Order: sequence, then structure tokens, then C-alpha cells
Amino acid sequence: VDDLLAEGVSGRTVFVRSDLNVPLKDGEVTDDGRIRASLPVLEKLTSAGARVIVAAHLGRPKGQFDPQFSLEPVAHRLSQLTDAPVKGIDSQEPLAGEAAKAAVAELADGDIFMLENIRFDPRETSKEDAERSAFAQELAELTGENGAYVNDAFGAVHRKHASVYDLASRLPAYQGDLVATELEVLQRLTEAPSRPYTVVLGGSKVSDKLAVIENLIPKADALVIGGGMVFTFAKAMGYGIGKSLVEEDKLETVKGFVELAQQHGCRLIFPTDIVMAASFAADAEHEVLPVDELENGKHGDQALGLDIGPESAEAFAAEIAASNTIFWNGPMGVFEMEAFASGTKAVAQALTETGGFSVVGGGDSAAAVRTLGFDESRFGHISTGGGASLEYLEGKELPGITALGA
Ligand code: 3PG
Repeated sequence: VDDLLAEGVSGRTVFVRSDLNVPLKDGEVTDDGRIRASLPVLEKLTSAGARVIVAAHLGRPKGQFDPQFSLEPVAHRLSQLTDAPVKGIDSQEPLAGEAAKAAVAELADGDIFMLENIRFDPRETSKEDAERSAFAQELAELTGENGAYVNDAFGAVHRKHASVYDLASRLPAYQGDLVATELEVLQRLTEAPSRPYTVVLGGSKVSDKLAVIENLIPKADALVIGGGMVFTFAKAMGYGIGKSLVEEDKLETVKGFVELAQQHGCRLIFPTDIVMAASFAADAEHEVLPVDELENGKHGDQALGLDIGPESAEAFAAEIAASNTIFWNGPMGVFEMEAFASGTKAVAQALTETGGFSVVGGGDSAAAVRTLGFDESRFGHISTGGGASLEYLEGKELPGITALGA
């Protein structure tokens, strides 16, 4: 954003797209990592005298006002974290309507005005170029004469949405500092990772990770698999998995990954033991079983796997310790429940202790390390982007970046 600052922003209205998609519970922000990551750009702009409009999305509302997706709690947290006064629009008003224009007209230099959830307008996410374009035009007009656009929403740059993509061609457009930092780190992972380069993937669904697995097998020295997606691999290898999560339609695909890994000399590392539980509940009875005995425990084929076991956790930690570059995305188990958090904790712990460069990618994994109480500064980098960082690593084009022409 320094280019924009060099041009001078005092008195100008700058539209900043941030990613403030944070977890909420009972109307309170439970992890404000993304809000804090958005502050530097906002502070640079406001202290240089800009009048800032902040736009962001929260969750996936259905293109209309819905109180459970209101950005109100986020605006509240933002106002606690910044010195600048944060004003917000009445949630029922159109996003770029008269009320918004009037509110922008009243901004003083250095003020922040936060729009309601940008996805309350169905045109934000429309597949129709003309609809998104019309919305982007309205948003651009909010900035009046001499306005500018800053995209700092790294977590959303993989979305071809009006405020992420189309708006960049309607106003002088600049890359935010968070986007720049995130891109630098990911480039380091894709272009010349210091070896051994280990990728640790978890999370519940293998279907979310197919492209990234395929793309990383040729690049990484080792691919460590944990989380719910383990069971699709385990079933494909012929193991009984009880009632564990499985994606039947992906069995052939994951078999293909095992072959692909062999071809490229990438070691695929699976858990050797699993915490099998009687049910999906925080207080469920559970036991550790070897991966080839998952249906032979107390609950037979009714048990389900909710975490990697201690032997696997130790092996994964040893892989991480022996690596020079590590990318981690996705929890190893149901870390939200204390009884099934050990695997995720062990991986996070190993990442804080390694001498290598560790990158935590993904909203969930980032939230996990913070809610589990790890010190953020012990990691090489904690990305604010989940889908966005995976798509970058998959080698896909990111519309929000392309639009900036950077
Ligand atoms: C995220 O949480 O990964 C980003 O905010 C993007 O959200 P989306 O997947 O709903 O587009």
C-alpha cells in the first residue's frame, strides 16, 4: 500500500477489502487473528489521513440480510483494536445505498466506516459478470472523487467476487500489505523450498485437498496425512474403519495418489494408530488402536476415529523436526474436543520447535494453534488464508491477485 501512501491519501476515501471472516460464538469473536492481521493497512491509511471504507464478508449468507452473519461483532472488535473511530452502517440498509453514501460523506480524515457483510448483496458472489460489475460500480462510487481501492483480503483472493475482483478495474487499485506478505511466503514454499520439504495435511475431507495433494506430491519430499481424511486412504488400502468418516467416491483417486507418490519419490506417511471413539462426543469412551485393527476394539465396527494416536503423533513430530520447510494445513483430529486434541497439539508443538521454516496455512489450523494456546511468534508464518493458500499451492490463478495486475 506504500505506493498509494506515496501519492498522498489525506482527505481521500479509500475502499479496503479485508478478510474479517472470523469464528463467532454467542455474538462474540472467538479468534480475532484475521482482524489483527488486517490492522496494519488500516492504521497506515488512517494515520495518513485517509477516510477508510472497510468491506468484508462473514460466512456464507444467502445474498440478503441475515442477523447471524452480521459483521457487528467484528466491527466492535475492530473498534477495540484500533485508535480510529469505527462507524458502521445500519445492517438493514442496502450496502451501497443512500445511507452508506451519507455515512461516507460524514467521515472525517482518519475515520473508518465499516460496511455490513458484503455478501448480503447477492451480486457480490454472482456468477454473472454483469451483475458483479454493476455492484462493483456502486461500491466504487461510494468513494467519490479521487477514490482508491486496496485489496488486503488474502483469505478471499481465490474468489471471483465483486469486491475482490471487479472493483479493482473501477478504481486505482493497490495490493495490501497482508496480501504482499502472504504471497512472499507462499512463493518461498513453491519456488525454492529448503529441503527436506514436508507437507502435513489434515482436516475432515480429502475432497477439499485433492488438487493440492496432486500438485504437492511432485514437489514435496514427504506428505504426512492426518485428520478425518485418513480413513478414505485407510479404506482404499483395505483396512476396516468402522463408522469413521469416509468418501466412498474418492477411494480410487486416493489409490492413484499412492502410486503418484511412488513415481515421484515422495514419502507418504500415514498414522499407524488411531484414537477410536464410541461416538462423536466430547465425553465419548475411546481407546487407541493400531490402524489395521480399527474394528477390533471395544466398540467393534461401530467405533469411529477422532484423532491420530500417540505413536503416530510422535512419528509426525519426528518428520517435522527433521525437515527444513514444513507446510501444515488441517487439524489431525477433532481438536475442539479435549480428548481428541492430542494429535493436533503434537503437530503444532513440533512446528514451534523445529529449526526449519514452518508455515501454518488455513483459517482452521491458524485458529487451532491460537485456541490451543500456542505462541504465534514461534511459527515461521501463520497464514490467514485457508482456501486461498491451498489454491496458490495448487498452482491456480487467484482472481483477486490477477485483478491487481501485480
Ligand atoms: C475463508 O474463510 O477461507 C475465507 O474467508 C473465504 O471464505 P469463503 O470460503 O466463504 O469464500
